Amino acid sequence: MTRTSSRKLDHLRICATGDVERGRTGFDDVHLVHEALPECTMDGIDISTSFLGHRLASPLFIAGMTGGHPETEEINRRVASAAEHFGMGMGVGSQRAALENRELEDSFTIVRETAPHAFLCANLGIVQLRDHGIEWAERAVEMIDAQALVIHLNFLQEAIQPEGNHNAIGCLDALQGLCREYRVPVIVKETGAGISGPTARKILGAGAKAIDIGGSGGTSWAAVEVLRAPKAASARTGHHFLEWGIPTVVSLIEVAETGAPVIATGGVRTGIDIAKSLALGATLAGMALPLFRAGMKDTETLFNTIEGLHQQLRVAMFLTGSRVVQELRRSRPRLTGPTRQMLESIREESNGY
Ligand SMILES: Cc1cc2nc3c(=O)[nH]c(=O)nc-3n(C[C@H](O)[C@H](O)[C@H](O)COP(=O)(O)O)c2cc1C
Repeated sequence: MTRTSSRKLDHLRICATGDVERGRTGFDDVHLVHEALPECTMDGIDISTSFLGHRLASPLFIAGMTGGHPETEEINRRVASAAEHFGMGMGVGSQRAALENRELEDSFTIVRETAPHAFLCANLGIVQLRDHGIEWAERAVEMIDAQALVIHLNFLQEAIQPEGNHNAIGCLDALQGLCREYRVPVIVKETGAGISGPTARKILGAGAKAIDIGGSGGTSWAAVEVLRAPKAASARTGHHFLEWGIPTVVSLIEVAETGAPVIATGGVRTGIDIAKSLALGATLAGMALPLFRAGMKDTETLFNTIEGLHQQLRVAMFLTGSRVVQELRRSRPRLTGPTRQMLESIREESNGY
């Protein structure tokens, strides 16, 4: 087994039971406005939506998580069966381990076998893209016959991981080179530390077609790395970065202002969080940890979790008088507290104080 593969298994074991959620998403500061006279029927509410030209039956996106170790094949099969059943989009975890060792490809190919009709996203780290070029990107997409390629950014994790890669030079150029010639849309994704408005503009300028903000307030990869190597010197540093990053709501609002399609991921935990994300301009809301933990139990638990989230979303749409997702987007939620203050300070700064 390669080091990448056994590290992946460490990460999944820690995420299965560890205390890995840190920070504040800002969803508590977002208030959907109750409509006392909704003038629609709850059972007729349509939660389907479009993303990058694909019709999806749900705005809930299964964020990239697993694959890359033989033990991950079963969880990927369960999650893919949910994507197929509910008509949801799904990302796989980093395909690096299978690109290094073809024997691990089955843990990813199971996803397309189980979900022949799903909108699937391949996944590669920006450092691997820079170091191995478009050939790895192409192999990752082919492996699962993906409709889009996610390039993930995880420099918080790299900085805290004892064996992490600390060199981020040349990544934007590598992204630009990929987007210029690539046949499927490229989505750039953070993994829990968020993306600012100016960085989003650089990413879109390089040619990415959508952004998954991966904001702070949900799974913290600093926390995962501290739990993985608690005695390493890097863990002492990591403790100071447990809450590092741009809160999901702040990142979402900043990035949505670019007009590009946005996936809101990072601490989305309820159907109301999904509704708030859509109301704030997200095209999809992504979720990782809760779906991973449900899927680790069994398929039934995973399906029940997703049905529950959809039902909460429908109730939130009904109570805001939103018959379709587009109407939710026009619902103008109210913002309060630290999230409002942070956004005001960002706006003051961009206006030159
Ligand atoms: C178990 C697990 C494994 C993950 N593996 C990957 C990965 O391989 N590639 C990636 O881009 N993101 C990965 N992520 C990050 C998620 O896609 C997501 O951005 C992050 O966890 C925040 O969402 P959450 O708060 O809902 O967990 C992983 C998350 C979890 C929980």
